[in-house]
Amino acid sequence: MCPLRLPLLAALLGLALSQYDYGYDYQPAEVRPPTPRCADECECPTHFTSAMYCNNRELKAVPFVPTGIKYVYLQDNHLTEIKAGVFDNVTDLRWLILDNNALTNDKIEKGSIDKLTKLEKLHINNNKLTEVVVPKSSAMEEIKMMSNEITKFPAGLLSGMDNLTAVHLSKNQLTTEGITGAFKGLKSLMLLDVSENKLKKLPAGLPSSLMMLYADHNEIESIAVSYLQKLPTLQYLRMSHNKLQDSGVPAGVFNVSALIELDLSYNKLGAIPEVGENLEHLYLQVNEISKFDVSSFCKVVSPVSYSKIRDLRLDGNNLTPQSMPMEAAQCLPLATEVVI
Ligand SMILES: *[C@@H]1O[C@H](CO)[C@@H](O)[C@H](O)[C@H]1NC(C)=O
Ligand SMILES: *[C@@H]1O[C@H](CO)[C@@H](O)[C@H](O)[C@H]1NC(C)=O
Ligand SMILES: *[C@@H]1O[C@H](CO)[C@@H](O)[C@H](O)[C@H]1NC(C)=O
Repeated sequence: MCPLRLPLLAALLGLALSQYDYGYDYQPAEVRPPTPRCADECECPTHFTSAMYCNNRELKAVPFVPTGIKYVYLQDNHLTEIKAGVFDNVTDLRWLILDNNALTNDKIEKGSIDKLTKLEKLHINNNKLTEVVVPKSSAMEEIKMMSNEITKFPAGLLSGMDNLTAVHLSKNQLTTEGITGAFKGLKSLMLLDVSENKLKKLPAGLPSSLMMLYADHNEIESIAVSYLQKLPTLQYLRMSHNKLQDSGVPAGVFNVSALIELDLSYNKLGAIPEVGENLEHLYLQVNEISKFDVSSFCKVVSPVSYSKIRDLRLDGNNLTPQSMPMEAAQCLPLATEVVI
């Protein structure tokens, strides 16, 4: 016998004995709280009865979800459609996970997910959506629709979602026009990931609550003068692998005090842009920078006035260690890693 089974056996024996000892106190099954039924194709664990696991079962359609279920896992199937009515008994569903299927917009019937007005988490990564689909749920906290074919994000779709904190849309076909107005008025949005899309500009009308904006691998050529002024709490801005040139970067556009990390690697910059006083991580590798100008970091160089930069990547540019001016060490005393 496998020794690992012993404690379990002992516990079962103990349970059996105690039931035997106090047999007349034993509670009949009927008084236990009713457990939700489970769709035949799925599994609802006895220790987590409000969850229904239907993942990895070669399903082609979403099964009817029984009363009492709050979390549904349908990832890793062959789902192509969601029929109307499957969620009729669970309009208070909280999580719906549909990653790695073959869902298209035209086969998500009206009367299916639009009924989920209490939904908090919606994951439809790696499907075949061409347009964002989201139920009108004011409880929504997180939307993930990465790796689809989304070109359109209708304006107003997210309105009233005051608890929405994160939207992940990387690896789609979004254009600047396609997402105009999509995020307007959101009160809690902290993270927006639109990397690996077809944006020519950073999204307009983002809410002032934003802390992380990821826009790597797009076709962005320029940034508007006061773009970051409208995002006073933005700490992480990632724009690597775009088409930024000096002419598209207005003077002082990155000189904002909230910014902690700025990734401008793999662009076409010829100069180091001015950065804000609190920036700690600056990535500029693989650009066309040929001059190291201390004034990008320190307007005045003195023992009490220096940059907080810790990491500075400048490799893959036209710089040599000799390009570093004498004042660099005094302006950047915290930079343990300056890679040229
Ligand atoms: C759905 O809800 C109806 C009405 O409350 C109920 O009679 C029925 O048993 C439920 N079905 C399932 C599978 O939960
Ligand atoms: C938003 O989140 C707060 C805090 O978790 C919660 O109390 C509130 O009910 C949520 N709002 C909605 C509409 O679910
Ligand atoms: C950034 O702006 C502040 C004032 O807003 C200014 O004092 C500082 O010199 C600027 N930094 C750089 C590197 O230009």
